[in-house]
Amino acid sequence: MGLLVLLLLLLAFLMPGVAIPVPPALRALSNLHLSTKFTSRPSAVTKYSKYSIHYLKQKVDHFGFKNDKHFNQRYLIADQHWKKEGGSILFYTGNEGDIIWFCNNTGFMWDVAEELKAMLVFAEHRYYGQSLPFGANSFKDSRHMNFLTSEQALADFAELIKHLKKTIPAAKNQPFIAVGGSYGGMLAAWFRMKYPHMVVGALAASAPIWQFEDMVPCGVFMEIVTADFRRSSPNCSKSIRKSWDAIHRLTRNSTGLNLVSEALHLCTSLKNSQDVQHLKDWIAETWVNLAMVDYPYESNFLQPLPAWPIKVVCQHFKNPNVSDTELLQNIFSALNVYYNYSGQAKCLNMSETSTSSLGSMGWSYQQW
Ligand SMILES: *[C@@H]1O[C@H](CO)[C@@H](O)[C@H](O)[C@H]1NC(C)=O
Ligand SMILES: *[C@@H]1O[C@H](CO)[C@@H](O)[C@H](O)[C@H]1NC(C)=O
Ligand SMILES: *[C@@H]1O[C@H](CO)[C@@H](O)[C@H](O)[C@H]1NC(C)=O
Ligand SMILES: *[C@@H]1O[C@H](CO)[C@@H](O)[C@H](O)[C@H]1NC(C)=O
Ligand SMILES: *[C@@H]1O[C@H](CO)[C@@H](O)[C@H](O)[C@H]1NC(C)=O
Ligand SMILES: *[C@@H]1O[C@H](CO)[C@@H](O)[C@H](O)[C@H]1NC(C)=O
Repeated sequence: MGLLVLLLLLLAFLMPGVAIPVPPALRALSNLHLSTKFTSRPSAVTKYSKYSIHYLKQKVDHFGFKNDKHFNQRYLIADQHWKKEGGSILFYTGNEGDIIWFCNNTGFMWDVAEELKAMLVFAEHRYYGQSLPFGANSFKDSRHMNFLTSEQALADFAELIKHLKKTIPAAKNQPFIAVGGSYGGMLAAWFRMKYPHMVVGALAASAPIWQFEDMVPCGVFMEIVTADFRRSSPNCSKSIRKSWDAIHRLTRNSTGLNLVSEALHLCTSLKNSQDVQHLKDWIAETWVNLAMVDYPYESNFLQPLPAWPIKVVCQHFKNPNVSDTELLQNIFSALNVYYNYSGQAKCLNMSETSTSSLGSMGWSYQQW
């Protein structure tokens, strides 16, 4: 809980020199009675399924007057633990994917709902899931992409909160707390900064709110990923470091390209050096994803995975001092932890690294 309290305080005291009393709902959030034993998650899938689905008509452009179009923003409400007296509202600031998928995977909010007497609201981010400002054409025309910005998304959230306060009378004077993780955590924190009158605080989990060019060195993210594997065992990160050259050496001719394709059970055989680069990028993204979902319990967020998946992956990288072909075998075993924990994979598909619930079209645009 230490970290949680720290985060909340950080956000509550963002303006130096101004002593802001911590609102009771926030104090309750930082004093929650959560289990600190994280070896297993209570199976909560059934309790997650109870929410209602709603749509709010939103402006495509909140800030200009040349575009007067609207679209439907999807949001979910779960109010089984909500109390009209003394309750609160946890508002999930949706990130780059289908909101139902995030709702399914944000166990924290469901875990604390009862104790906080909270209504849970999950707001979908524009351009993801069903909240498409130009429907099926949202990504077909670069002019349509103009409205895919975090500023517009935050304005959607503000409109939605206004709407909820207006249409659910008992919610009008209850404290709203923004909650988000990753990019959604950045949105939660920014929402508290930009709309401080709409939420009493924000819980920003794993949120790199300052990770921008010239603010932190650009290699920091990958250094943290490497450190995750090195912490499991130094030989693990060493093996991975060696693997790039090994792949390069093994794929210099067509015999080698076939050998590697077969050894890794790839769905599509490698044909040329471009494919080899694609292979390396795909493997690298796999290690990155593992670092992001290295949960201490069995989970199914990006992929079905065992508890502490990096530890399991590193079981296959105990010795970096092996031949290139042995290392290739080890890479295959390690990739199987991520892509074939279910035992169902027929082949490994370099076109996929995670669930299709993530909106790859919008996200590749937003990142650049
Ligand atoms: C959410 O969870 C339900 C219940 O397990 C499942 O049926 C549904 O496919 C999930 N939806 C997404 C988008 O993950
Ligand atoms: C292809 O590359 C492999 C591995 O580098 C090497 O052992 C083999 O001799 C090469 N074969 C040909 C036909 O060049
Ligand atoms: C790491 O690899 C080295 C070199 O192959 C080996 O001597 C050592 O025993 C390995 N360490 C562990 C903990 O496996
Ligand atoms: C790595 O392997 C080579 C040959 O197989 C051996 O000569 C060398 O001592 C090994 N290095 C380590 C650190 O085990
Ligand atoms: C996935 O695992 C199953 C069961 O272990 C195995 O039969 C299958 O070959 C694996 N698939 C791949 C692509 O490795
Ligand atoms: C690989 O993934 C892509 C993208 O999801 C999909 O279109 C393709 O059918 C998959 N290939 C195989 C062999 O499963």
